[in-house]
Amino acid sequence: MRKIKIPSQQNLVIDVPDGTALLDAFAEHPAPIFWGCRTGLCGVCRVEVIPSLPELLPAPTKEELEVLSLFDSTPRSRLGCQVFVYTDMTVEASLP
Ligand code: FES
Repeated sequence: MRKIKIPSQQNLVIDVPDGTALLDAFAEHPAPIFWGCRTGLCGVCRVEVIPSLPELLPAPTKEELEVLSLFDSTPRSRLGCQVFVYTDMTVEASLP
């Protein structure tokens, strides 16, 4: 199990199994994330991800980087539907 901390939700911490899609982790919890396509195309699910062990966070694919480049993204920006949880992490609020 991995822990996802959500500061914008009164530091809510949720536990998810290894390999859970970040977007799916929020299915039953209040979350700072919106979504649209769920396939990595629309960019609506952008969040800031701060992994406890960065080496365990799979790097974004070329396609994810292309979508993120269309927005005012930071090096920590990821698409929630394309991130799979293999380390504890903090997730900041969805981006405008
Ligand atoms: S929901 Fe569309 S890119 Fe993630």
